[in-house]
Amino acid sequence: MTENQSASQQNRVVIFDTTLRDGEQSPGCSMTPEEKLSVAKTLDEMGIDVIEGGFPISSTSDFEAVTQIAKHAKNAQICGLARARQSDIDRCWEAVKHARRPRIHTFLSTSPLHMKYKLQMEPDDVHQAVIDSVSYARDLTDNVEWSPEDGTRTEHDFLCRCVESAIKSGATTINIPDTVGYTVPEEFHDLIAMLRNRVPNIDKAILSVHCHNDLGLAVANSLAAVRAGARQVEVAVNGIGERAGNCAMEEVVMALKTRHDVMPYDCGVDTHYITRVSRQVAGITGFAVQPNKAIVGKNAFAHEAGIHQDGMLKNAQTYEIMTPESVGLTRSTLVMGRHSGKHAFKSKLQELGYELNDNELGDAFKRFKDLADHKKEVFDDDLIALIDDAVLRH
Ligand code: KIV
Ligand code: ZN
Repeated sequence: MTENQSASQQNRVVIFDTTLRDGEQSPGCSMTPEEKLSVAKTLDEMGIDVIEGGFPISSTSDFEAVTQIAKHAKNAQICGLARARQSDIDRCWEAVKHARRPRIHTFLSTSPLHMKYKLQMEPDDVHQAVIDSVSYARDLTDNVEWSPEDGTRTEHDFLCRCVESAIKSGATTINIPDTVGYTVPEEFHDLIAMLRNRVPNIDKAILSVHCHNDLGLAVANSLAAVRAGARQVEVAVNGIGERAGNCAMEEVVMALKTRHDVMPYDCGVDTHYITRVSRQVAGITGFAVQPNKAIVGKNAFAHEAGIHQDGMLKNAQTYEIMTPESVGLTRSTLVMGRHSGKHAFKSKLQELGYELNDNELGDAFKRFKDLADHKKEVFDDDLIALIDDAVLRH
């Protein structure tokens, strides 16, 4: 391997998509096996590295979905979730085993709070269960991911002990979940760095992160972890997921692409599919995307303020840090409203097929401003009616 090849591999971030597992398990987001398969096909086509299709033991429908996804995926690794139980792991394997590259993802809580109240287990018993479950999964496949649930609220000594034992038992990916979206970027960076320093066999596994968005920090936390050496990020399309959701796929991918100058890490996702997969997930789940959502919101590439519209018409980079085409949109939208200026108005009319002389334009612009004062947004049909009127009057 040349020096350059090894450098580029070290900078490759694996994108693990859990839209169909963690995303789907949030209220209002459930999908049928057929719906999951259609989303999985898009994720597979767009270059997502690992697709977590579901939690096979949780229902017949989830088992069926993961099985179908495993049978149809052409490129991605297909993963299923399993608790630290043989029956879960067996069921997961039955579903994912059809994939070209199957993965079992098993997890167990390690924080004092979860061990005491949720598991009602002693730390030593939890540690033994980690060894037993990972070893059991490893006998089925050499592609095993292990997660310490509530990892960010786990005591560091215990976390290091469990991570080291999971690796020794055969885990090839160690995923650190911020299950309740509690951490902040600096702290999470240091946690990942601490694991890299203190766990003897850490380099034998890929370090992954799985961030929830309860404080709106899932993307920032994930990127901080990448800077500290994490090389897999777990994400969901449109950021869907439990409570405030998971780390948004489109935000992480576009941040890595747009700010490659300060975060020189690569991923294999073709960003041109982003709008398509976002709309597909929103359409299937009925879970609407907020208009001002980064990257995929209706307003993400829309401009209304006159000064912004004028700048955009002169050079789009004045107010856009990435092109709409790069995420699969055809172009930016100039929203006509009270804040729009004459330059944008004229350009919008040209787009609608009108070439007005100066008098007509002046008159139409005045009428447009009157209308816009009473209306949140002036739509194309409003403009057409207004122009026809103005032209008729001259
Ligand atoms: O948030 C979480 O801790 C999870 C694990 C199962 C990885 O989703
Ligand atoms: Zn989660």
